[in-house]
Amino acid sequence: KTDENDDLYEAHELMAKFYRHLLLNTEEGNEALRYLHERGFTEEDIDRFQIGWALPQPEFALNILKKRGFSIERMELAGLLIKNDETGRYFDRFRGRVMFPLHDQKGRVAGFSGRDLHNGQPKYLNSPETPIFHKSSLLYHFNAARTAIKKQKQFILFEGFADVIAAVRAGFDQSVAVMGTALTEEHIRQLKRVSDQAIICYDGDNAGLNAAYKAANMLASHDISVKVTVLPEQLDPDEFIKQKGADAFSAYVKDSSLTFMAFQMDYLKRGKNMRDDEQKFQYIEEVLAEIAGLKKAVERDHYLRRLADEFSLSLQALQEQEKTLFLKKR
Ligand code: CTP
Ligand code: MN
Ligand code: MN
Ligand code: MN
Ligand code: MN
Repeated sequence: KTDENDDLYEAHELMAKFYRHLLLNTEEGNEALRYLHERGFTEEDIDRFQIGWALPQPEFALNILKKRGFSIERMELAGLLIKNDETGRYFDRFRGRVMFPLHDQKGRVAGFSGRDLHNGQPKYLNSPETPIFHKSSLLYHFNAARTAIKKQKQFILFEGFADVIAAVRAGFDQSVAVMGTALTEEHIRQLKRVSDQAIICYDGDNAGLNAAYKAANMLASHDISVKVTVLPEQLDPDEFIKQKGADAFSAYVKDSSLTFMAFQMDYLKRGKNMRDDEQKFQYIEEVLAEIAGLKKAVERDHYLRRLADEFSLSLQALQEQEKTLFLKKR
């Protein structure tokens, strides 16, 4: 079956092969290979995720694509080449970067993300929006993870693909990532077709926590049951795995992931001083509103007790207040 964009896919597949070859089999790829090894990427990772290296030369992809008969204008549209408007000449978008192919939901290479070796700007250079690549709807590793997601009846959502690669190495094949963007309705539509149970494992920094809070609320509003793994010491998953090892990560995800409500109870505390009565009551009010939204009476009871214990309040008072919110909600 042919697609009007077959040439764009073919060009990506071809370049992914060349980038891989350059990384693994040439002198020019040595520095990048060393970089990957230092970061903890194994041969198997490089193989499985088809990681490569784009030479610094500006006309490497250009020459290959020309020689293979691809239309140069189409390759510009594909985001592989850029046209210099002054000279009218074309040159490679990706130069001197570690190349991560981005597969779409059918497993075709639809774009690339290229990482600078020395934290130059931008750290990651991505394909632009093209007929076959849409950053806000692509889930990294989704096609490859589908079977594992079904089997595990759960997906783990990360912020970045370095995290997915490390998590897969640690045994979590059901891992996917947004491309550092906010989770979208389109992401959720794809995920929900495969599973309705999520673990969110974003970076342990502030940005990651805020993004996790938003993503958790979105998933929950689509009737996906959510757990959240909050990593310690502001680590991101790939740093955690590098520092503490795969077993520690595996244990942490399994034992220390929070239910959505427990995560919210922690999250809503942020920036509030619990010794200040006004802020404390506001916190309690916010948590009660969330508890009132829980469908199961047993769960509402569980978290009310937790709140009562934490603030030495009577369960009865909390129940009473929760009920007024509960009635408002339904
Ligand atoms: N990202 C991007 N462009 C950037 C920075 C980030 O597209 N300039 C995306 C990438 O998909 C990245 C994700 O946002 O994987 C998460 O960003 P960040 O946490 O900064 O990157 P890491 O995945 O931790 O990358 P690394 O470990 O290589 O630093
Ligand atoms: Mn499209
Ligand atoms: Mn981050
Ligand atoms: Mn990160
Ligand atoms: Mn990282």
